[in-house]
Amino acid sequence: MKTITFITSDNDIIETQANFGSLMELAVKNKVKGIDGDCGGVCSCATCHVHVNQEFWNAVGGPSELESDMLEFDDNVSDYSRLSCQLKVSQVPDGLILKVAK
Ligand code: FES
Repeated sequence: MKTITFITSDNDIIETQANFGSLMELAVKNKVKGIDGDCGGVCSCATCHVHVNQEFWNAVGGPSELESDMLEFDDNVSDYSRLSCQLKVSQVPDGLILKVAK
């Protein structure tokens, strides 16, 4: 079981736990404000945008080309932006911290 923490734009800290699925699914299940997952996780809406905590960036890795193209349309992109539907619980480090993009 991994612990993954989401910090909302209101600075609410939501600690979640999961073994599988995407981080978007995890956020929606735990009602994390600001993660809507409108497209269902097919990388076409960017309503699941998060900023990966800098200390975890190397372990998580950068976006795919398709994901980068999607992020280009978002105003609040940072060097640590990812779409949480493209991140699998199984592939991210335990203890990961993500800030929900505005
Ligand atoms: S849920 Fe639509 S891009 Fe992630």
